[in-house]
Amino acid sequence: MNHRSGSGRFITFEGIDGSGKSTQSRILADALRQDGYDVLATREPGGSAGAEEIRALVLEGDPDRWSAETETLLFTAARRDHLERTIEPALRAGKIVICDRFADSTRMYQGLSRGDLRGMVDQLHALMIKREPDLTILIDMDPDQGLKRALERQGHEERFEDFGPDLQRRMRAGFLALADEFPARFRVIDGGRSIDIVAADVLDVVRHDLTTHA
Ligand code: ADP
Ligand code: TYD
Repeated sequence: MNHRSGSGRFITFEGIDGSGKSTQSRILADALRQDGYDVLATREPGGSAGAEEIRALVLEGDPDRWSAETETLLFTAARRDHLERTIEPALRAGKIVICDRFADSTRMYQGLSRGDLRGMVDQLHALMIKREPDLTILIDMDPDQGLKRALERQGHEERFEDFGPDLQRRMRAGFLALADEFPARFRVIDGGRSIDIVAADVLDVVRHDLTTHA
């Protein structure tokens, strides 16, 4: 049971497209609810009414619609709204917030994919977001496998996976480098296994984190 009060715990999932983040966030949220925790599951871009509108602006239509700089501003604006209206109120209420992607995705996709804009991304983050997750689960996997999975469930959104396997490989390496950069909050899990086995590893990591920080 959850006897904690006051401030909750902020857990994010990161990884390349198709690595299983949405699947694993859903399974983790269900498992933690069964453990008795109050859980809010959310995602980026999106997670609040305003941020969902921005999601449509960045993921639909011509992929070249925005420069990398403008895209960074849009993702950051969406994140700020999501934080103010969804994430921070839930954390203040003592909930566990599980978020499918957060600022590390901007560090990767906008910070690395079209030139080195990581410095600009970090400055904007320091000014407008400030908060980092308490725990980040990086689902690491082979980009070809991720791409195959992601393309199988292709919808109307222009996703970054459409840029192809080379970008996916750079993103994988970038995410692993980010895990080395922030070892205190990152845990890397091998996503190239069955859904149940990955979920069991995720739950182990999270239960350990929650017990340690109860
Ligand atoms: P992401 O949110 O990281 O893009 P999803 O959770 O949406 O990934 O998974 C992408 C696709 O791959 C979905 O169709 C999902 O059912 C499937 N999938 C997720 N995890 C696994 C796994 N471990 N093994 C096989 N298929 C998976
Ligand atoms: P998402 O819905 O998580 O897609 P997927 O399930 O395929 O992983 O995210 C949509 C796309 O948005 C994804 O390609 C990554 C991209 N993205 C950014 O470029 N920057 C960001 O800050 C975020 C949160 C996502």
